[in-house]
Amino acid sequence: MDIVVSGIRSTGNLHLGNYFGAIRNFVKMQEENPCYFFIADYHSLTTHPTPADLHSSVKTVLVEFLACGLDPEKATLYVQSDVPEVAELYLLLNMNAYVGELERCTSFKEKIRTHPNNVNAALLTYPTLMAADIIIHKAHKVPVGKDQEQHLEMTRTFASRFNRMYNVDYFPEPVAYNFGEDLVKIPGLDGGQKMSKSDNENSAIFLADSPEVIRKKVMKAVTDAGPTEPNQPKPLAIENIFQFLKIFSSTDTYTHFNDLYNRCEIRYGDLKKQLAEDIIVFNNPLREKIEALKNDTDYLGKVARMGAEKARESAAKTIREVREIIGFRSM
Ligand code: TYM
Repeated sequence: MDIVVSGIRSTGNLHLGNYFGAIRNFVKMQEENPCYFFIADYHSLTTHPTPADLHSSVKTVLVEFLACGLDPEKATLYVQSDVPEVAELYLLLNMNAYVGELERCTSFKEKIRTHPNNVNAALLTYPTLMAADIIIHKAHKVPVGKDQEQHLEMTRTFASRFNRMYNVDYFPEPVAYNFGEDLVKIPGLDGGQKMSKSDNENSAIFLADSPEVIRKKVMKAVTDAGPTEPNQPKPLAIENIFQFLKIFSSTDTYTHFNDLYNRCEIRYGDLKKQLAEDIIVFNNPLREKIEALKNDTDYLGKVARMGAEKARESAAKTIREVREIIGFRSM
């Protein structure tokens, strides 16, 4: 049976990109497979949160995991830092990760460009920590969005390098997974390529956003003056808005606005009003569950402890075996 592992950084509220890129698949996969889903709080330290912010972000993601339908009885839900074996495997993998290959990683280059004052060593070795997260449970499938594809490629490199180096067939080579379909990339509302909260808050709709906030964000979404000739291809920002319609609205609504666009009769205000209402219909049940769960500290604590125990059991076994393979033996 294929083992599934995936994680989400704890940098605050989850957005629709996280949901459609990853969490929706977590919920489906927990029905069939042994799954390990975790909150990547070690990873979030690259941006130096305060202790209070770190703690509240981890709690937020746990609440939102549960609100989305992750079931702690079916999947192992845990906090990354509750499993320190991950940090040991990260150290060991770093011995065979080359600076050149880490420097070539797109996400690292992007961070250098966007945050030139905080190019820390953990950003460079981000892919080895991610690989440790995945192979610590000897995973086969990793449900993620399109932006994580290269990290998965590097995970395979590190796993197969370990196997080759020690002449073992120990770690499987895990693949990014979306039920055989292309990995998903939800665009931003700011005309950007990807919904993301770190770059621009206006690009993202959060699962916890109220209807008023959703209306405001959608009405502010980037559009243009409209087409001047019929049946023209859509510029990126407009393509993005239509992608949202495809996800959240009915086929009739999509066709209606697409026809208006092709006839140069589109009024983006009308489109956005309809889109906002359709997103609200999707989001409201999630937001209500978030509200209901967020103060249930006892339950959240119980879920986290149960997950930590199960995840540690699997991680400790891997570390024991890896130490043996590498040659750490008692005197
Ligand atoms: P993170 O926290 O940025 O995103 C979590 C998940 O959400 C997906 N995602 C998106 N999918 C589609 N469209 C979007 N606009 C969008 N934005 C985010 C991401 O692809 C991801 O699946 N490094 C990871 C966290 C991580 C991890 C791991 C994931 C740490 N260790 C091990 C898998 C396995 C990250 O920063 O994701």
